[in-house]
Parts: sequence; structure tokens; C-alpha cells
Amino acid sequence: MCGIFGCVLKDGPAAPLIHSSLKMLEYRGYDSVGIATISDGTVNMKKDSGKIDEVHKILNLDDLPGAIGIGHTRWATHGAPLKVNSHPHTDCTGEIVVVHNGIIENFLELKSELTNLGHTFVSKTDTEVMPHLIEETLKQNPKLSFEQAVHESLKRVEGSYAFAILSTREPDKIICARNESPLVLGINGHGVFCASDIPAFLEVTNKAVMINNGELVILKADGYEIKKISDGSQITREPITIDWTPEMAVKQGYPHFMIKEIHEQPETLRNTLRIQDHYLDLLSTFLDRANEVFLVACGTSYHACLAASYMFSKLAFLPTYPVYASEFLEQHGKSVNIDSTILAVSQSGETADTIAAVTCAQQRAATVLSLTNVIGSSLTRISRVYIGTQAGPEIGVAATKTFTSQLSVLAQLALKLSKKRGKISQDEIDCLEAKLQLLPEMVNIIVTTQEEKIKGLAKKYVNAKVFFYLGRGISTATAYEGRLKLMEIAYIPSIAFPAGESKHGPISLIEDGFPVVFVCPRDDTHRTVIGNIMEMKARGAHILAIIEEGDEEIKSLADDYVEVPKGIPAVLSPIPYAVPLQLLAYYTAVEKGFNPDMPRNLAKSVTVK
Ligand code: AGP
Repeated sequence: MCGIFGCVLKDGPAAPLIHSSLKMLEYRGYDSVGIATISDGTVNMKKDSGKIDEVHKILNLDDLPGAIGIGHTRWATHGAPLKVNSHPHTDCTGEIVVVHNGIIENFLELKSELTNLGHTFVSKTDTEVMPHLIEETLKQNPKLSFEQAVHESLKRVEGSYAFAILSTREPDKIICARNESPLVLGINGHGVFCASDIPAFLEVTNKAVMINNGELVILKADGYEIKKISDGSQITREPITIDWTPEMAVKQGYPHFMIKEIHEQPETLRNTLRIQDHYLDLLSTFLDRANEVFLVACGTSYHACLAASYMFSKLAFLPTYPVYASEFLEQHGKSVNIDSTILAVSQSGETADTIAAVTCAQQRAATVLSLTNVIGSSLTRISRVYIGTQAGPEIGVAATKTFTSQLSVLAQLALKLSKKRGKISQDEIDCLEAKLQLLPEMVNIIVTTQEEKIKGLAKKYVNAKVFFYLGRGISTATAYEGRLKLMEIAYIPSIAFPAGESKHGPISLIEDGFPVVFVCPRDDTHRTVIGNIMEMKARGAHILAIIEEGDEEIKSLADDYVEVPKGIPAVLSPIPYAVPLQLLAYYTAVEKGFNPDMPRNLAKSVTVK
């Protein structure tokens, strides 16, 4: 998730406005920043890796001539956060300049085609193919206008994008286009603006024009034109008035980042499904050849590892060992060796316990692989191979969208492995891959249809003194995650363990009205979970079940239930089943009057051991 901004002013310098607008988009990404303007037919550009304030201090981003320009604040998805990978990117001539938010899925194919045509690339990004594609289109069709060349080029691009594009050929306009990544216009008497999000221009106007998927926009100082990419037909759309404060706008109108990020999960899950195949291939090859695999992480990321151990086992017959990073040195520090493989999972890539664990493993010649949400983090620099989880910055301290993104990537790795190892049939693999593609929409259904009910459950149980979270099989991991969410933001002591363990002690805690959350998809454990539910009910527990839609058997036993769409394979179930638990924790915290974004005693990234 990155932030783009562009403006065409009637007068006055564009750069200072672009700089201040990018600052308002920093929550969308902040590992690199760049601005390009045009004046007297020449492109002026400043860019570098680093936070906006750091780069500005060195380069002075305001000091660029021209009343038209574009800018970008980056969250790396392809290519480490280095100056060469920062936006804007240009074509060979330097006359076409592009900023982009999204993922161009077919960039390798386009890059190879353009390289063979003589184009020179300098970065590792997917974005850089766009200016060269426009350049090539104009080379082959010199009579095309700038707008037409962009339009033709867009027809070759597959994936998500919000582009803002400049050219010295027609230096009085910006061409924008949107597919899936957000794009909105602002307009006032001094000019027209395009941005990833409303906060970027809210200081200068509250008149906004929403741009939809498949639309191309021509921005000029005195106005804008919207056209359909599919057939070039013109679209008329009047500005609306935004009544948000800038602070509300950064949260897109949500009261907290956490609830915004829970709602972002359909989009972030779609982005995880756009990871380049060769990254998954490479990492799964290392896992395939491994003698022993440790899955190392903390907190929510550990729960993703726990779920992954079921995925790797069931799909690829690969035994893996989830280990708390804080325990790794004590547990395996002496035994880890050249034949060991570590797959570390960390959304921040900076968790001290995780870094310590992988550093120890690396010093003992083990192979270190990783999944992280922050490309360029310490973990990526230690890892032999890493994959970004594509969730964009997560501001809420409680991990939500990064958890489901981690699970989606881990499931894709397990499927890659199962193909390599031929342990399950191709039909099963095809079915699982198809179901994985459906998860973004399934999560969207949960968020849109169950949220109100979950709000009511939060009110009902707000005064509970303790919660149990139980599951069997892979749902044990989901139960652990749901428990952590409630504890860390609603401060309710909660206990989670495999449901089969209840009778080995914990059930002694049950008293009348004791809320027990069961995570119980209709999988192989369904029958035994019903037995566990009966055990708890018999002792007066209140059963709160997260069930598959239409599961009448458990509905008849539960005091309350939340339904998840049918047809989700067990190995993928933690992704959708975690969402009701995230919402329950969030609304319970709000009901108790706490700020879910800033829970007491916690930090977003625990960089101390
Ligand atoms: C999860 O909601 C917490 N914020 C915490 O447990 C977190 O998952 C843990 O500190 C690990 O962080 P990491 O993924 O950045 O390594």
C-alpha cells in the first residue's frame, strides 16, 4: 500500500503542496519518497529511500520548480526500499514520469518484452514497466496523444493500480488511472488534485470526486475529464463535499485504525494473491529440501506459524515445528545446525526475540527464510529468501490484516510444496487454490453481515471476568489468536487451549455463565467438538460458537453464534474464522471505553528482548 499524489495548479509551485500532501498519506507507506515536477518542458525530480522528513531534510523536497507535479510515498512490495526503487519512475528518455500504488502482476513478462526492444531498466520494481510501456507505445504510434498512449498501455497491464503520469510532451496535464487501488480527485479554484486518499488534499479542499475501477482521468489546471478505459466513453461525475476532519480522514472515517484494518482485509487478502510466483517457488524449494523446519515467531505471528504447521503437514506431509522466538535459543540454540531451516514470521521484521533467534540460527549455518510485512526490515536483511505479506502498513497495535495476510501466504507456500511433493491429488490442489481465491469475498461477507451481531455480543459479554477460547485441529491456532486479541485490547483475562485438553484440568474453572468461545468449522473435528461443547454446557458455560453458515447442530447447542460462509476447507479456515474474533475483541474494547489502537503496556513492534 503506497500513497500517490498529483496536482495541476493555475499558479504557484506544486512541490510544497505535493510534499505536505504526501505527509498526510504517510500512514499508507513511508520507506521511500519522491516528487517530480515539470517546468519549461523539463522534468525535475528528487527521491530517495527513508521517511519523508529525513529525505526532505537532505534534499529539500519543496525546492522543485513548476506548477504541475506528482509524488509518492512508498511501502515496498517489489524491490527493497532503496533510492533506485523509489518512485517516481521514468522511461529511457526521462520525459515520461510515473507514480503507482498497486501490483502489476504481469510485470516480468512486460519487462522482458520491453528489454528485448531495447529499453533499459534501473529498478527492481514492477512500476517501472509503465513509463517504458508508454514510451514504446508512442515509438510505435508517434501520432498518438499522451492520453491515448497511456490508454493503449493500460490495456496491457494486469493487476491493481492507481497511476499518476506526467510527460513533457504535454506538460499541462496529469493522466491518472485506477484499477482496485484507491484514487480520488480534489478540486478548488486554484487547481485539481489526484490522490490515493482524501486526507492528501483535505487541507486545501473538501470537494472530492471518487474514481472507480477501470477509469482514466485527464487532469488540467481548470478541471478534469473521466473516461472508461474499456471503451474511452466519457463519464460525468460531480464533486461531493467531504465533512471529515483531517484526523478522521486518515482513518477513512473509521473511529480507529484497528477497525479500518479489519475492514481492509478483503483488499489485503486480494493483494497477497498477487505475489509473484517465483518468490513462492523459491521459498518453497528451500522448504522442500529442508531436513528440519522451525517456524519461529512471537504473538500473533506465532499463531500464524501454528496454523501453518497444520497446513504444511496436511498438504505437503512436511513436519514443521512452531517455536516461540523468545524460547528458541533455550530450546534449540545448541541443536540448530547446517541442516536446519528457519522460517521466521514477523509483520514488523524488527521483533527483537525473532531477530535474536534467526541470528543464532544463522551463526550456526542454518538456512533462514522469512515472511514479513516490512520489506527492508532487519529480518529481510538477515534472511536468505523472504516474501512480503503485502498488507500495507498496520497502524493498530493489535495485528489483524497482517495475520490473515501471513496465513494466506503460508497457505500458498503449503500448496506450492504439495505440488512439488505430489502428496495430494491435483484435483484437491486445484480446489484449494480456487477456495483461496474466494477468501477475500468471504471475509467481506463476514465483515458486512456479522458485524452488527458481534457488536451485540460484545455488549452482552462486556462484564465477563474470564473467557475461554477453544478449537480443535487447525482451529486451535485460531482460538489462540482470538484469545490474544481480547486480552491485549479489552484487558479481559482469557484462556485458550485445544478443546481436547479441557478435561485435563481447565474445565475445573467453568462456572455458571462462563463464556466459552468455540471455533468450530465443519471439518473432521466437528463431531468431537460437539462433545466438548456438551461438556462445557453441562457445567453452566455460555457457548459462543463461530460456525459454518447453517450448522443447525451447533446452533441448537450454542447460546450465541456467528456464521462464516460455507465451503471453506479446514486448512484455510483460520483466515475467515479469525475475523469474527477480531471484531469481538475490538467491540468489547470499545464497549469498555478503551482505545483499541493504543492498548496499555504494548508497542506495535517489540524491539526489546
Ligand atoms: C499482536 O496483536 C501483537 N501486536 C503482538 O503479539 C505481535 O504479534 C508480536 O509482537 C509479534 O510482532 P511481529 O509480527 O512484528 O514480529
